[in-house]
Amino acid sequence: MNLLRAKPIETNLTKDTGLKRVLGPVHLTLMGIGAIIGTGIFVLTGIGAANYAGPALVLSFVLAGAVCTCAALAYAELAASIGGSGSAYAYGYAGFGEFPAWVIGWMLILEYTVAISAVSVGWAGYVNDALQAVGWGLPGALLHSPFHADTPGIINLPAALIILSLGGLLLSGAKMSALFNAVVVCIKVSVVLLFIGVAAFHVDPANWVPFIPEPALNSRGESAFGWHGIATGAAIVFFAYIGFDAVSTAAEETARPQRDLPIGILASLGICTTLYIVVSGLLTGVMNYTLLNTPSPISDALLHVGVKWAAGVIALGAIAGLTTVMLVLYYGLTRVLFAISRDGLIPSFFARISRRTKSPVYAIALMGIIMALIAGLIPLGDLAELTNIGTLGAFSVVCAGVLVLRRARPELPRPFKVPGGPILPVLGILGCLYLMINLQRTTWLAFLIWNGIGLLIYFGYSYRASLLNDADKPGST
Ligand code: ALA
Repeated sequence: MNLLRAKPIETNLTKDTGLKRVLGPVHLTLMGIGAIIGTGIFVLTGIGAANYAGPALVLSFVLAGAVCTCAALAYAELAASIGGSGSAYAYGYAGFGEFPAWVIGWMLILEYTVAISAVSVGWAGYVNDALQAVGWGLPGALLHSPFHADTPGIINLPAALIILSLGGLLLSGAKMSALFNAVVVCIKVSVVLLFIGVAAFHVDPANWVPFIPEPALNSRGESAFGWHGIATGAAIVFFAYIGFDAVSTAAEETARPQRDLPIGILASLGICTTLYIVVSGLLTGVMNYTLLNTPSPISDALLHVGVKWAAGVIALGAIAGLTTVMLVLYYGLTRVLFAISRDGLIPSFFARISRRTKSPVYAIALMGIIMALIAGLIPLGDLAELTNIGTLGAFSVVCAGVLVLRRARPELPRPFKVPGGPILPVLGILGCLYLMINLQRTTWLAFLIWNGIGLLIYFGYSYRASLLNDADKPGST
């Protein structure tokens, strides 16, 4: 059994793969922002400040942002020289061979599926709040899964419906989805800027003292604050940055991938990192961190300083934000499945493309149904952290892939190269591992179970079904 068997690296990055090359650098940057700004900033900032880092939450954002920057640079280098719809999966294939690629692909499926389902539950909460404000709130039975710990219901209907609707949009093709994304991204970025504009005039510097609270137990009984709290906060708000990697899954729908993918990845991450650092700094300046243990910290902070009208607008921004996060991650998920399926590691069904819209229709439809069922029926709770661990795992392998490929294939064209030799990729690997260590034990357990299932599938099905077996057969080209 050869676990590191590999296929030749395809250096013609603009060849026809069946998908339609309709995306440019602006689409890709907007896609990145679409996937990045969402639950992380609208929900997790409060929990991060109140339970882990205090006003030093801004340092948690800097730390997580620095790790993501190293990973984004690595993504940009590999996207420009290898491309491929599967993103980290494709880079893993090129750098390490089939089995490691499968492990990464399996982690990406976890990242995207759990993130989309978890975000849809947050989306449903925000939408119901908005409906309640106009007297049309939904009954609890249609908002909670049957397994909800406190108030079991029948199904989380809005969460299931938004996933199915986004599936419908993706079926219409990449261009249409990118257009919708662009409009909604403009709304959410305007709302974030509005928060910055209003909050900047209501900061009370006394709220920033002490900047790094003394280590203590938090309201959940966990050890928090101090430097350890900053690191745990970073591992949690890391979720806020997830999504720039989805840009690289668009390689086969990008007109000039070698130039446009690095632009899309780095520009979207740069813009969002700047916004996050400013927003988290202002948030803890406007409202004392001890009061921020709330699911809607951004609008609560404005209510706290008496700017009532802005709170409603922020809710609109949050709904818009979460919608594009789901859309772009869903898009990314189907492209990763497309790439894995094209290599024969999962059934060919996932790589079937519609003749009319040139999108992988079956992957979109099947995953929509699966994720709608998960979001509607299973209470995800802390499982959102699973997204972080899966993503950190994939990021560390992408950073390692840069180092391996530079040695193994120095001749590959590299229109974009991570500056500073091996330093940043090595820092990226160490940073990802450090954040992974700071995640909870239950997250690790679920992650190991997920990877165990992945191994069973690989050894039970994928290894034998891989198209590389056909290439080995006598007479094949
Ligand atoms: N970065 C995305 C969010 O914060 C996943 O919702």
